[in-house]
Amino acid sequence: MIDGETVPLSVEALRGTLPRGGTIIGTSRTNPFKVDGGVERATATLKELGVDALIAIGGDDTLGVAAKLFDQGINTVGVPKTIDNDLSATELTFGFDTAVQIATDAIDRLHTTAESHHRVMVCEVMGRHAGHIALWSGIAGGATMILIPEEPFDIGAVCDALQRRHEKGNYASIVVVAEGATPKEGTMSLVSGEVDQFGHVRLGGIANVLATEIEGRTGYETRVTILGHIQRGGTPTAFDRVLATRFGVAAIDTVHDGDFGKMVALQAGEIVRVPLTAGVGAPKLVDPQLYHGVAEYFFAG
Ligand code: F6P
Repeated sequence: MIDGETVPLSVEALRGTLPRGGTIIGTSRTNPFKVDGGVERATATLKELGVDALIAIGGDDTLGVAAKLFDQGINTVGVPKTIDNDLSATELTFGFDTAVQIATDAIDRLHTTAESHHRVMVCEVMGRHAGHIALWSGIAGGATMILIPEEPFDIGAVCDALQRRHEKGNYASIVVVAEGATPKEGTMSLVSGEVDQFGHVRLGGIANVLATEIEGRTGYETRVTILGHIQRGGTPTAFDRVLATRFGVAAIDTVHDGDFGKMVALQAGEIVRVPLTAGVGAPKLVDPQLYHGVAEYFFAG
């Protein structure tokens, strides 16, 4: 929009997209409010092309920008798409189910080396503010321990639990850690990276620090796998394709109704419309009951 680059999306052009991930029009998380004249240029493009409505598909950053553009008078509708599943007002975002499946497959495969070589395998997944991917894939993959941003961890307690497990004769352990997990204050230090246009530090790498600590404190051989963008690519699951299709149809209906400033959302299995502002702002964190009332029972078991 800022550069005025367009791709006509006819039905013909969209054939064959169901099994594809990512974006086919080359959009990325750009913040027009951080680009010189960005909002004015984007608005001018829409006007010039006679675009009736802007459908923004993305996570907190994209939909946050969409909400601001709506305030500037642009007819906007939001569709919740992020592997992180951290948007409020929707029970699920599309992309999440696929990422959980990829992470679960990876954990299943890591069990082989953990068991054959009696190693601790630390698997890092995405999740900046919320640990949905870590929690779901950790439960599904039978992780020994799941570390998420919502629950600052104590490295001493993590090592004690691994040691208790070894004493019981269980020498293979999988620790799943979300990229945004943080140690309890003063227990371990992390290095921080570059900041993007939305003010987010580039994450990725906590698993390395964690593995060094675990190996140093316990003496158990500890190896690292960082899944990174593997979680964000490839073929979407059938569930995600159906959810995305339902959201897409609902977004078009919303445009036809002229009901702008809304995000389509999943609530109690039904597609509903909520104000865009309800979806963004505060991240949707993991259900504490799923962490404390389910996952935790299996930690270091
Ligand atoms: O918001 C999705 C997400 O995958 C986050 O989990 C992750 O921190 C971020 O995007 C990485 O973004 P980028 O590829 O732009 O560094």
